[in-house]
Amino acid sequence: MSGREAGAPLLEAREVWREFGGVAALRGVSLGVHEREIVALIGPNGAGKTTLLNLLSCVLPPTRGQVLFRGRSLAGLAPHRAARLGLTRTFQNLQLFGSLTVAENVLVAREARGGHAASWSEALPWLELVGLAARADEYAHHLPFGQRRLLELARALAVEPTMLLLDEPAAGLSSGERAALRELLLAVRARGVAVLLVEHDLELALGVADRVVVLDYGEKIADGTPEQVRSDPRVISAYLGAAA
Ligand SMILES: Nc1ncnc2c1ncn2[C@@H]1O[C@H](COP(=O)(O)OP(=O)(O)OP(=O)(O)O)[C@@H](O)[C@H]1O
Ligand SMILES: [Mg+2]
Repeated sequence: MSGREAGAPLLEAREVWREFGGVAALRGVSLGVHEREIVALIGPNGAGKTTLLNLLSCVLPPTRGQVLFRGRSLAGLAPHRAARLGLTRTFQNLQLFGSLTVAENVLVAREARGGHAASWSEALPWLELVGLAARADEYAHHLPFGQRRLLELARALAVEPTMLLLDEPAAGLSSGERAALRELLLAVRARGVAVLLVEHDLELALGVADRVVVLDYGEKIADGTPEQVRSDPRVISAYLGAAA
């Protein structure tokens, strides 16, 4: 166990189940993310990664089991209330306001956080952090796909979370953008933010993560350091296969 794991987890799933019309997408999964820890959540398509993120961010309630943030149950909490507690996320399918400018997208997030109007300059530090300051006045739908992903990240960071859940942030990014994303994730952690990263880019995921959790058919099949997970026979046969 690494030093980062000491103490109670910031965000915790305890034996969570999620069923959709009788089909179990998650079967008794437990997972903890500690402060300033980057945890990668990996696994094959349909393994339940997005469903687990939905449970952890209050987008969906668990069918059974509990989600706790700072030791408190999140049961019944709306996602925006969870965001005010410091828990925020991005989506696998981008959820930006295409007809607003890049800066305005960030301001909407600031305003939701603070409950009051945000001035234009408040958007800038977050756009600088992701390298989009030069495009502040462009419409969001004019950005290339990779930059829209970075904008969604800027919006999530503008809420100043302590726990950030990311669903495939590298999907659609160029290799240069992926390298920048890696640096950004490390910078985010250095600012005191814990990250749960769902990602199919294993070089990125295993490269930045302190710990890796592997899901397969709705069950957790491994939880360990990147080295432990890479050499785990069950993970290799379920997911890594030729990639390992
Ligand atoms: N709203 C829903 N209604 C019905 N079934 C769902 C729903 N959401 C997810 N599922 C099912 O739950 C299972 C897990 O899906 P999930 O999207 O969590 O997988 P994933 O690991 O994120 O996959 P991917 O890597 O493709 O994004 C799949 O079988 C999926 O079809
Ligand atoms: Mg998914």
